[in-house]
This record gives sequence, C-alpha cells and structure tokens, in this order.
Amino acid sequence: MKFIKLSQTDALMPTVGLGTWQAEPDVLQPVIYEALELGYRHIDTAFNYNNEEAIGNAVKKWIDDGKGVRSDLFITTKLPHVGNRASDVEKFLNLQLKRLQTAYVDLYLIHVPFGFNCDHTTLTPKVDADGNYELDMETDHIATWKKLEDCQKSGLIRNLGLSNFNEAQIQAIWESATFKPQVLQVELHAYFQQQELRNYCTEHDIVVTAYAPLGSPGAKSHFVNKYKYSPGVFPDLLTVPEVVTIAKKFGKTPAQILLHFLVQQKIVVIPKSTNKERLQANMDLYDFEMTQDDMNLLIRLDKGEKGRIFNFLFWKGVENHPEYPFKEVKK
Ligand code: A2P
Repeated sequence: MKFIKLSQTDALMPTVGLGTWQAEPDVLQPVIYEALELGYRHIDTAFNYNNEEAIGNAVKKWIDDGKGVRSDLFITTKLPHVGNRASDVEKFLNLQLKRLQTAYVDLYLIHVPFGFNCDHTTLTPKVDADGNYELDMETDHIATWKKLEDCQKSGLIRNLGLSNFNEAQIQAIWESATFKPQVLQVELHAYFQQQELRNYCTEHDIVVTAYAPLGSPGAKSHFVNKYKYSPGVFPDLLTVPEVVTIAKKFGKTPAQILLHFLVQQKIVVIPKSTNKERLQANMDLYDFEMTQDDMNLLIRLDKGEKGRIFNFLFWKGVENHPEYPFKEVKK
C-alpha cells in the first residue's frame, strides 16, 4: 500500500516519507534531490528543523529540471512551539511557505501542544536566567485551530493535523473543528506501539504517522552528550533478535522489517536518512507481506510508556506547561 487516503479531502498521502529532523541543510539539499530521483514523493519537515530553505531549493531545482511538478509531491511542515498561538499562525506559515518556495503545504501540523514565548527577532524561545523556557500559559488550541482552518480555506494548507498531542487534546479540537485533524504524528516504533492512541485515531479516521520508526539511532549521541540522556533510553531496534530473524526469513534488512511492520498496519513512516543505499532500502517495503505470526512476534516487543524516547523534558521546565501532553493534562 503506497498511499493512504485522508478522510476529509481524499488527498493521497504516501506511506513512506523522508524524515528530515537533524539533517543539516547543506547535507540535506542534495539528499532531497537524490531522494526525489529515487522516487520519494513525501517530505516531512518543521520550522524547528531549520532546513525548510534547503528543501525548498532542492524541490525547486527538481521542478525546474523538468523532473516533476509540485502536485506530484506531498510536503508536510509544522507550526513551531514559539508560534503556537492564533495571532502567530499566519506569520509562521507565510515564512515557511516562502522558505519552502511553495504556494501551499499538503499537510500542516501543530508541532507540539504547548507553547513558548517567542523572541520575535530570532524566532526562538525566550529562556530565563536559569535556563528555563518561558512558557506561554495562554496556549489555546481551539483558537489556533480556527486560524489554521482559515488558512486551509484560503488555500495555503491542504490538510491539517497534530503532532505530539494526547487523546484528550485531540478530542477537544475534534469536537470544535470544521476541518477535522487528518493526521497525528507521534513517536511510534516496535518498542513504543501506542495501541490505545492508534485505536482512537482509527475510530476518528485520523491517519497516524510514526516518527522515529527506527528508534532514532542517529539522535543518540546528540542527546547523550548535550542533554545527558542515559544511552539506554535509545534502543538498538536493528539488532533485536525477533527483528533480525524475520529479516533473514524475507531476505530484508532489519530496518525494512521495522518499517514494513508499521506500514502493514496502515501507519505512515518517515525514516530519516542521508545515505543513498539506506534511502533506497527504506522505500523498498512493498514486495512482501508478513504473516500474522511474524506480526505477533513484533507486537510483543512493545514496552508501553517505558519505550518512549522523546518526552521533551530536555526543554527545561516544559512539564509545567498546562498543555504538556505526557501526563494528565491540567485544565
Ligand atoms: P543515516 O542518515 O546515516 O542513514 P529515525 O527515522 O528512527 O529517527 O532514524 C533515523 C536514523 O536511522 C538516522 O541516523 C539514519 O542514519 C538511520 N537510518 C536510516 N535508515 C536506516 C537503515 N535502513 N538502516 C540503518 N540505519 C538507518
């Protein structure tokens, strides 16, 4: 299954997209072009990744070279934590469209449910003398969503969605929305399968996109060095015996098994790679079908909450925000 249809707009979302978090712009620009040449048609980025301009340059070159047209592509980007308020939506979206050199994005997500005060000169969060992020306690999802709906009406956004929201937060938006959330992007991999949240999404026709589908092996050294994460927080999913056994059975790599496991369950995956062989391999998922026994072996790897890698506590003080998603939400 190479595409999933989004329920309200019938847009076709490719089930494999290229993730771009932690890809440096000068490395990423030629990689995007290469990925498009290999057949990628779905690119996932965010204001916070600081690489929208590089993606825009690569896509423009690909189109100018006559390789394809804008409507062949599915481009996702995200409203940042510093812009998470109705009054900032248009400012950020317009800047992002300019950086991406496109008239519209196929999917625009609110990146995280909480908001930080913005230094409007640098467009970065304000941080106090103790290193705490200045929380914007006024975050109002319903007001922000209404503004996003206006942007969809005016054609700047084709589909709206959420990222890193919990079920109660999604439900509150769902109830008030005219344009319902079409996609939820969350951390999801063999050790953190989010079955309850996925059930909710299925019931509400929300497509789930898995970030860190390989367990984000490339982020490990950064998080251990910069944020003093314990190395054990990052699992080595590629060497898990069950994954290796199934890979051997199908003549695939462990990464392909981890990705196929999700795609076979109608989950969109956005593995990041800047390496040509791995880019190619990560798309090559559709010529085999795992049996229910294979699937069950992988389903049993789930560690529930213990499997979560990314909780955003590296943003000092974020757990005090009323919309911090990973505990009971204070209202
Ligand atoms: P690289 O860019 O050198 O290929 P995730 O998407 O879970 O965050 O994982 C991304 C990380 O996984 C990157 O560090 C990437 O490194 C690595 N990676 C991507 N594809 C593969 C693959 N097929 N096999 C092994 N590692 C991979």
